[in-house]
Amino acid sequence: MIHPRDLRRIGHIARSRRIHYNAGVGSDFKKRDRFGEKAKGEGFSARSVYKLEELDKKYHLLKPGHRVVDIGASPGSWMQYTAKIVLPSGYLLGLDLNEITAPLPQAALRVQMDILRAKPEDFAALGATPGSIDVVLSDTSPATTGIKVTDRARSLELVQMGYEAAKVLLKKRGAYVFKVFVSNDYQAFEKTLKPAFERVLAQRPDAVRSGSEERYILCLGFKGAADARGG
Ligand SMILES: C[S@@+](CC[C@H](N)C(=O)[O-])C[C@H]1O[C@@H](n2cnc3c(N)ncnc32)[C@H](O)[C@@H]1O
Repeated sequence: MIHPRDLRRIGHIARSRRIHYNAGVGSDFKKRDRFGEKAKGEGFSARSVYKLEELDKKYHLLKPGHRVVDIGASPGSWMQYTAKIVLPSGYLLGLDLNEITAPLPQAALRVQMDILRAKPEDFAALGATPGSIDVVLSDTSPATTGIKVTDRARSLELVQMGYEAAKVLLKKRGAYVFKVFVSNDYQAFEKTLKPAFERVLAQRPDAVRSGSEERYILCLGFKGAADARGG
């Protein structure tokens, strides 16, 4: 992350040495700042809320009364956004390795859990029984190493385990929406998703930082556990 002070320094050096620095750095900073400031002003715990908001506005993912599981939910901005739409008549469960600290209504369930170890019984014990969920969200990010091949593999593992959970949890016509770092291995995995859903599409919301390999994949219209087993 570039501190504003450092950015000013880079600008100063560029001007004094008559060199051009990458305009992308400055524009990304403005974008980050814009979404970060907006989140603070609107009381959201993270700027990533605007990624979900953009996807939801475009694809109408969340509806009042929906039952939603949010994987990798800390600090909780996606839960804050979702709670406003689906509660009080719906259901919202957020899970993360870390504590979910955002201010949320009491009805929103929060649990510290590792998705790589989660079992259907763990979800059922929390009220997320098989075939009862409209939307599974996953914004999980691995602890990045900076080694692209490792980070991509870890991101894919989280997505695959999220899919294992989604296959069990989703109702027919439900949706699995997840973040992934794009890679050839991901493209291969996507082929196994396609038979289980009516539509699988990739999106890059405006709040994604420039240069980021993140993509948001929307798997819409779950066909049911039988088709998912085939995939
Ligand atoms: C980008 S943050 C999610 C931000 C969240 N969507 C929000 O709006 O506040 C990614 C999260 O994935 C979580 N995560 C990474 N590996 C995980 C795992 N194995 N099980 C559960 N959560 C995990 C991290 O702890 C981190 O909080």
